[in-house]
Amino acid sequence: MDSISTDGSVSRRTVLATGGGVALAASTLAACGGGDGTTPSGPSSSQSAMAGAGGGAGRVLAKVSDVPVGGAVSATDAQGKPLIVSQPSAGSVVAFSAICTHMGCTVAPDGKILRCPCHGSTYDPATGTNTGGPAPRPLSKVTVSVKDGNVVEG
Ligand code: FES
Repeated sequence: MDSISTDGSVSRRTVLATGGGVALAASTLAACGGGDGTTPSGPSSSQSAMAGAGGGAGRVLAKVSDVPVGGAVSATDAQGKPLIVSQPSAGSVVAFSAICTHMGCTVAPDGKILRCPCHGSTYDPATGTNTGGPAPRPLSKVTVSVKDGNVVEG
């Protein structure tokens, strides 16, 4: 039984070995976590969606005709992250990350504004600018374009 030896070096090795085990377990957990619970179906569905897009420049986020002029719809990017797609004026589209800059809840369209359900922050769907509540910054812009009547990433 080395571990109960009074020899300091053996005890030290035991401690180091235990530490290594913990580090390994932690990295394994991190690798398995891979996200926040949305991971298992995310990547596979994204890949099939991209394949369905016919190898175009980007994933289809929404049909332009489904995005209200002056309003917005929720969408999901290729990594499964929530987005907001807006049409400030007919035929012109912009998109933003839907992750609230306050504490990371998912922002959603609410009439002519974007609203975070957690603490009530509001954003302008045309610019992503924070317009009320505790959110400290605008939503992050995401580059999109229009192809064949669809809003696509990139
Ligand atoms: Fe959006 Fe707090 S997380 S307002």
